[in-house]
Amino acid sequence: MDSIVVNGGGELHGTIPIAGAKNACLALMPATLLSEEPLTLTNAPRLSDIKTMTLLLQSLGAEATALQDGQVLAMSSHDINNLTADYEIVRKMRASNLVLGPLLARFGRAVVSLPGGCAIGARPMDMHISALEALGAKIDLKDGYLHAEAMGGALKGGTHELGFASVGATENFLMAATLAKGTSVLKNAAREPEIVDLAQCLRKMGAQIEGEGTSTITIEGVDRLHGATHQVVTDRIELGTYMLAPAIAGGEVECLGGRLDLVQAFVDKLEEAGIEVTETPTGLKVARRNGRVKAVDVRTEPFPGFPTDLQAQMMALLCTADGVSHLEETIFENRFMHAPELMRMGAQIEVHGGTATVTGVERLKGAPVMATDLRASVSLILAGLAAEGETVVSRVYHLDRGYEHVVRKLSGVGANIKRVKV
Ligand code: UD1
Repeated sequence: MDSIVVNGGGELHGTIPIAGAKNACLALMPATLLSEEPLTLTNAPRLSDIKTMTLLLQSLGAEATALQDGQVLAMSSHDINNLTADYEIVRKMRASNLVLGPLLARFGRAVVSLPGGCAIGARPMDMHISALEALGAKIDLKDGYLHAEAMGGALKGGTHELGFASVGATENFLMAATLAKGTSVLKNAAREPEIVDLAQCLRKMGAQIEGEGTSTITIEGVDRLHGATHQVVTDRIELGTYMLAPAIAGGEVECLGGRLDLVQAFVDKLEEAGIEVTETPTGLKVARRNGRVKAVDVRTEPFPGFPTDLQAQMMALLCTADGVSHLEETIFENRFMHAPELMRMGAQIEVHGGTATVTGVERLKGAPVMATDLRASVSLILAGLAAEGETVVSRVYHLDRGYEHVVRKLSGVGANIKRVKV
């Protein structure tokens, strides 16, 4: 199993290219199931989660081929011959549940394994189920699988209000409603940029959608969708992660392809901490010019609030801030597993329920640490950039799920980082 070795201390200078969004791509790929014509995605990130979704689509009979070193995904769902998403694939990645809505909409039936336990919380499927039931689906749980059927053979338009603005439930409803008969309305819909990206792609495929990016999305069902080519939106979480690298280590880095509208709430907190962020014609430039950052309080919220997927990385920054910061996690109940690992590096953190209190120290010290999930793993690498001495992050397979070429991107701006086989 590989580890990442970081020797901290040096400033970072240069540019980092930001990839297409993992979470957008994972929702866009199942959209191929809605049409018998090809769907091509460009600007796809090269990640193991994308490979898992490719395998899942192929297991259903779809063609899915990675071209141009994985940046282009050519898919066709002309010959779907299996409507069951198997546990062996779904257990690896919760986003596999995004095939449920499209399969149900086009074929009137689908069987999808429940995802099972997840390191960052229970993450049940109840909201997906009630959203699809509002479109006329009947869903039963048998042997760990959701057996879904469109009553009367096809989905019908319906109105539904989500109890919480779930990203995945919004995506499943949106895809399912594109082919349902009549008008569908989703209230308290999630407003994440990945949902806007999905709606834009579905519209290119012939779907009639209004209101994406707001809390109410209206979909007028159509009889069929056609093929399309779509460019995946910039990954705002990868963007925020690399913006934190110079904020933590010092220096000045431009994140190419970065857009302020994708990360405004996060940038507000960076600026409050004393980090400079400027828009350039090609992206976002981040600089830390003098002294320690200031402590800030952060509360994770659905978009446009501060993203839960940047909480661990922000904690890495605040470990060396001047003062006491509070981080409140409101989306996932068990998302502070990086805290004890950061404490191994000398951080002072206390976790009480959903809040972590971080008392900044002058300097972290390198240590052997363990990645526990995707975002936690990158937070340890960020912390290592500023720590004195060597940090060895093990279990980096978590990292490969969501960050392509981390070593190349960070060493490109001067970080002392390498990947080693253990
Ligand atoms: C997506 C993102 C993930 C991000 C999360 C929140 C993808 C592939 N993943 O995950 O990176 O951290 O949004 O921004 O896009 N919940 C229920 N019942 C449900 C569905 C969700 O209780 O039926 C709960 C979850 O346990 C969690 C909260 O709702 O506590 C948010 O989940 P949701 O927005 O659905 O996240 P995902 O779509 O799984």
